[in-house]
Amino acid sequence: MSRLLITGGTGYIGSHSAVALSKTGHQVVLYDNLSNSNRTILQSLGLIVGHHMSFVEGDVRDTKLLISTLTSHNIDAVIHFAGLKAVGESVEKPVDYYANNVQGAISLLQAMQFAQVKTLVFSSSATVYGEPRYLPLNESHSTIATNPYGRSKLHVEEMLADIAASDADWRIACLRYFNPVGAHESGLIGENPSGIPNNLMPYLAQVATGQIPELSVFGDDYPTTDGTGVRDFIHVMDLAEGHILALTYLSRNTGWHAVNLGTGKGYSVLDMIQAFEKASGRQVPYKIAPRRAGDVAICYSDPKKASELLKWRAARTLDDMCASTWRFHQFRRLSVES
Ligand code: NAD
Ligand code: UFG
Repeated sequence: MSRLLITGGTGYIGSHSAVALSKTGHQVVLYDNLSNSNRTILQSLGLIVGHHMSFVEGDVRDTKLLISTLTSHNIDAVIHFAGLKAVGESVEKPVDYYANNVQGAISLLQAMQFAQVKTLVFSSSATVYGEPRYLPLNESHSTIATNPYGRSKLHVEEMLADIAASDADWRIACLRYFNPVGAHESGLIGENPSGIPNNLMPYLAQVATGQIPELSVFGDDYPTTDGTGVRDFIHVMDLAEGHILALTYLSRNTGWHAVNLGTGKGYSVLDMIQAFEKASGRQVPYKIAPRRAGDVAICYSDPKKASELLKWRAARTLDDMCASTWRFHQFRRLSVES
């Protein structure tokens, strides 16, 4: 059992990971500036885990507040989810992305160094591989970022490698997520982006609920079985459990480690539509639209390193991902209507 600080803890992946970590006996403190989440989630988290979760409202660039949080809660390790994550927005607002993601990480590292907390799990992304040169993508694939978001992730990964090289006490895991989707089985928490969603799954869900009339499928002329883009969609609770095992691994190993968290399987956009229609019992109207700038045709992981190092493997199916997303959206509509 450890005492963990979870930055970005009220966000999508942070909240699901907080549940998984809390259920395995870890004590968690959530830290978030609520720029892309809402404190009402604390009530849902309390219902799921059966007790109140500690929450500190703050920005990761507030080094003083981080130091006082780390010391007052006697934190053993940090999981750093906080940051901005929209590729398109990062091209328009690069300064915001470097400020939140890179400056935020520097501030966190300064605070951790001061408080002598030297175990860190960092939310990285498959985006650091850029255009795949071969598939499946393993951790030895070259890294290159093609947009400010990806560069911010790569800068932080490189900083963390330097820190681990400078001081043998650091224990750092950079978890490279593929495409997290789905929701906690309770339906109480899930992905709830504000405005029109950028990503496929929340968009699909909003079309199925009738909030958006139709989905645009970005390209049907890719060199894939049905011409649409292929991704490694991973259930957010599988991803959450990967963090537990990463912490276990770090409790026994020092140094810097980059590990993919994906299923190793790819599904196309049309596969996803079909699976979502099955889970929801609703039709998902769609039209074929031009390719989206910056998209790659196919991206899926080699999950071998995660299996060998962390003893982690994704267990949930595509049907689980769609069914849990649908359950969350139904609950949400009910609570909005009531
Ligand atoms: P999210 O936006 O739901 O959660 C991020 C949380 O961080 C939000 O609650 C937000 O309010 C908070 N935050 C942002 N900037 C902050 C700051 N400066 N100080 C304090 N809190 C701040 O996003 P998510 O999908 O849960 O992603 C979590 C992490 O995983 C991010 O670092 C993201 O880049 C990474 N990631 C996400 C995906 C994905 O598809 N969701 C894929 C790969 C990697
Ligand atoms: N897509 C559509 N219509 C939509 C949205 C998406 O056809 O309305 C397609 C995309 O063209 C792509 C696939 O669905 O082929 C998946 O797109 P997403 O936007 O859901 O996900 P991406 O693979 O583009 O990117 C996501 C995150 C990135 C992260 C990456 C890691 O948004 O931040 O996964 O693999 F880096």
